[in-house]
Amino acid sequence: MSILTILEFPDDRLRKKAVDVKTVDDKTKKLITDMLETMYQAKGVGLAATQVNIQQRIIVIDISEEKNAPICLINPEIISKDGKKESEEGCLSVPGFYEKVNRCEHIRIKALDRDGRLFELEAQDLLAVCIQHEIDHLNGKLFVDYLSTLKRQRIKTKLQKIQRMEKNST
Ligand code: NI
Repeated sequence: MSILTILEFPDDRLRKKAVDVKTVDDKTKKLITDMLETMYQAKGVGLAATQVNIQQRIIVIDISEEKNAPICLINPEIISKDGKKESEEGCLSVPGFYEKVNRCEHIRIKALDRDGRLFELEAQDLLAVCIQHEIDHLNGKLFVDYLSTLKRQRIKTKLQKIQRMEKNST
């Protein structure tokens, strides 16, 4: 297993659109294992391959308290959605910032699991929000895109300052 580097806003590579996984092979499984490890180490509840600079439609999520219920979604697609819910979101690529975002309350998705089998999943509340947030990543979209230009700019400036400081200290 290895810990992967998580790209941080405003890195342009977070804007790349991921492509469908054609075959779920050992390489895909290794990547999923590494993504889970990376997400747990960073204390996140979700991670999209885009965030580790891999443009494949793969997402890992674990919203459980005990961190023992990993969900892996390959080529996820929302097949139905309804309701509206506003909740506070954060992102491993936008560390330290939490803002309210509107999402659909219920969604139904289809995806492949880590063995390449097609399945459907119904999700609501935190899980639904999390899946929508991660699918956005695969499309090059970040939760800060839902905020006002002013708020987004402020987050960008602060993060760039931190990134410069980190660069200078290494
Ligand atoms: Ni995120």
